[in-house]
Amino acid sequence: MTDRRYVIDEMISAKEIAARIEALCREIQTEFKDTDKLVVVGLLRGSFVFIADLVRELDLPIEVDFLEASSYGDGMESSREVRILKDLRGAIEGRDVLLVEDIVDTGHTLHHVTNLLQSRNPARLRTIALLDKPSRREVDMKANWTGFEIPDEFVVGYGIDYAQRNRNLPYIGKVRFP
Ligand code: PRP
Repeated sequence: MTDRRYVIDEMISAKEIAARIEALCREIQTEFKDTDKLVVVGLLRGSFVFIADLVRELDLPIEVDFLEASSYGDGMESSREVRILKDLRGAIEGRDVLLVEDIVDTGHTLHHVTNLLQSRNPARLRTIALLDKPSRREVDMKANWTGFEIPDEFVVGYGIDYAQRNRNLPYIGKVRFP
């Protein structure tokens, strides 16, 4: 299937993403204005581009940590199983935490990972997702901040892959099979 030819149409430009991140960071700064040191947790691999841009726009004392979870194989459908492949390096008990996701689709990943982080008793846990596909939801989850709500299209770029490709596109594109 992944050998099938496809084209990518731009859906959200790099400029639009940058403007949205700026606005989101103002809101995050208000929420965490009294924080000692915010732990910004990137959910690998999809969030690596988003978190890089996000933390450079955030005017707060922060630490960065990563967690790797996987719910998909190399196909386009969620297996609904969330596996933790790499855990955080640091403890988050009593800390303020911002979990950074690239996309919320069925919601299983966000549900599983927020439960896991919550069980470690952070002072405050908030979540941000660049993209949200509400029409695909299977568990009732929503990030505290969302960059863009999108329809049920297969998207790539800005960290998001199709069979591990296209993560390096600077914009969000829509995959189309001509
Ligand atoms: C993708 C994406 C989200 C998750 C969303 O990750 O990055 O983390 O799926 O899907 P859900 O809401 O249906 O759970 P994936 O497992 O493909 O790993 P990756 O980030 O390494 O690409």
